[in-house]
Amino acid sequence: MRRLNVSLAERSYPILIGEGLLSQTGLVLPMLQTKRVALVTNVKLADLYLETLANALEKVGVGITPIILPDGEAHKNWESLNLIYDAMLTHRCDRGTSVLALGGGVIGDLAGFAAATFQRGVPFIQIPTTLLSQVDSSVGGKTGINHPFGKNMIGAFWQPKLVLADTDTLKTLPDRELSAGLAEIIKYGLIRDLPFLEWLETNMDGLLAKDGELLAYAIERSCMNKAEVVAADEYETARDGGRALLNLGHTFGHAIETGLGYGVCLHGEAVAIGSVMAAELSQRLGWLSAAEVDRIRSLFKRANLPVEGPKLGAVRYLELMSHDKKVVAGRLRLVLLKSLGEAVTHADAPQNQVVAAIESCCRA
Ligand code: NAD
Ligand code: GLY
Repeated sequence: MRRLNVSLAERSYPILIGEGLLSQTGLVLPMLQTKRVALVTNVKLADLYLETLANALEKVGVGITPIILPDGEAHKNWESLNLIYDAMLTHRCDRGTSVLALGGGVIGDLAGFAAATFQRGVPFIQIPTTLLSQVDSSVGGKTGINHPFGKNMIGAFWQPKLVLADTDTLKTLPDRELSAGLAEIIKYGLIRDLPFLEWLETNMDGLLAKDGELLAYAIERSCMNKAEVVAADEYETARDGGRALLNLGHTFGHAIETGLGYGVCLHGEAVAIGSVMAAELSQRLGWLSAAEVDRIRSLFKRANLPVEGPKLGAVRYLELMSHDKKVVAGRLRLVLLKSLGEAVTHADAPQNQVVAAIESCCRA
């Protein structure tokens, strides 16, 4: 088992990565305040893994309220959140009840927001089951739901007590979802870890073949990068850089997700397209060469990710991007690449260059 720590003073917590962790209740038990959990998952994960986890917890005397939500990004909304509150109240969960999220980023974000707000906050544990959630969304405490105007517009920072990433769950993950996770992994290389980017270029075929050792290393290295960034800027308040850099490709990507309707383009796919748009803009600003942009594009393509966005039209892209959470006093801050492995936040990109970068990445 690999073990990392997210260092946040009294809110610090471990990230455990390994095989067969779902049934190792000895890892979860010490993190519970009382032997009572609300176990939030979705219909698909309930079929695959609920029994394993629930049986293991029941064996050690933990009382479980299972809460099974509909599956998909389109359900990351108030209705699903209310289903969690309703079940927790119906089953008389209290402030000592821990919320466990068993699923991908959608379940983690929803369950985390419920944990942050139920009776003003209860303990929370992340059990991520997608590659994307194991390398990104389960770590760092961002929780929330979507709004028709924009992704993750309503939410809270609420750190988990534990992240338990059982790599065995990736065996049932569809290939398209595996690739979506690879997008966020490539992101760490692009923004702050050039040696990791080079390692990904060498090992992409093995990752796509779900080689266990390679996946475990990629998850550990990604979480290490994320933990360092979060520890330095937990609430994303740094004026330049900081946690916002984890959003490479996200301003463009969120516009694509919202513009198409949630769930049409996977989050990781939108991040891949958005990162290529950011790279194109970085080239226009004189920071990246054409060869480097090609290198980025070809790595995403090798991960079976799309690199061309939908033709929403530049006006619609800009309108959607104007809702971005990095907008300060009406000025859009974009995450761009000064060089490969070095990201910056930048508020001064000329609008015509932003439009040109978007249009160069849209399907003809
Ligand atoms: P997801 O949660 O929708 O999961 C993808 C699909 O895979 C779903 O159909 C799910 O049921 C299925 N699935 C999950 N685990 C499986 C398994 N082991 N085997 C088979 N199928 C499985 O998507 P995701 O990519 O995990 O997460 C995307 C979400 O995460 C987005 O809403 C995004 O905004 C959010 N996110 C949040 C953060 C954060 O810091 N909080 C960071 C990145 C992304
Ligand atoms: N996924 C971006 C963040 O956690 O800050």
